[in-house]
Amino acid sequence: MSSSSSSSSPLYLLVFYGSYREARAGIRLADYIVRNLSAQGHVVELVDAKAVGLPMLDKRYFEYEPGTAPKAMSDLADKIAAADGYVFVAGEYNWGMQPGLKNLVDHYFKEFWRRPAGIVSYSAGRLAGARSNSAWHATLTELGMAVIPNTITVGTISTALDEDAQPIGEGGAALDRSFPGFAEELVWWAEAVRMKRGG
Ligand SMILES: Cc1cc2nc3c(=O)[nH]c(=O)nc-3n(C[C@H](O)[C@H](O)[C@H](O)COP(=O)(O)O)c2cc1C
Repeated sequence: MSSSSSSSSPLYLLVFYGSYREARAGIRLADYIVRNLSAQGHVVELVDAKAVGLPMLDKRYFEYEPGTAPKAMSDLADKIAAADGYVFVAGEYNWGMQPGLKNLVDHYFKEFWRRPAGIVSYSAGRLAGARSNSAWHATLTELGMAVIPNTITVGTISTALDEDAQPIGEGGAALDRSFPGFAEELVWWAEAVRMKRGG
């Protein structure tokens, strides 16, 4: 799809994705979001929960004595705190969230405060992860994020994005149509928040 430049300096945006499955399909959507936000001139990083590899939740990050948290956990805390906004790529397992991403998110708290978040959901079926999308809305709000009103939903994901995360067919065309409005809203809020934070 065509890219457009942001009007001000680049934002630092994190794209979260959390399937641990070997044959995972949602990585295509995560890669699509990273690529298209990057094409607008932003600094965009994928946070792949499987690659980060946090343990099942015991202590939250703030419960560790300073300097004692696992390095992967503290490195990610720094990234979350430094970011201007987030995208959560949400798959759906049994009408709920994917546990790998929920486990990662639960480790953090104030690092997420007062930042905008956009939710992009998908599934193998036609409902496009709608139930997981709704569940994430409440969780991200509880963590102090401002969830933007725009969302992206991708049904039958393997018919919308190929293995190289390129849009295909009608589903891919619909994704390309929905991305610009989503990105514009996320960028608006991220720039507003950055101004307020003095960046
Ligand atoms: C344990 C499990 C539960 C699932 N439950 C749902 C579901 O409730 N709704 C749905 O639309 N798809 C469901 N699916 C199908 C997923 O949408 C599909 O496998 C998708 O590719 C999962 O994302 P991933 O490939 O990134 O792991 C489920 C898949 C798995 C493995």
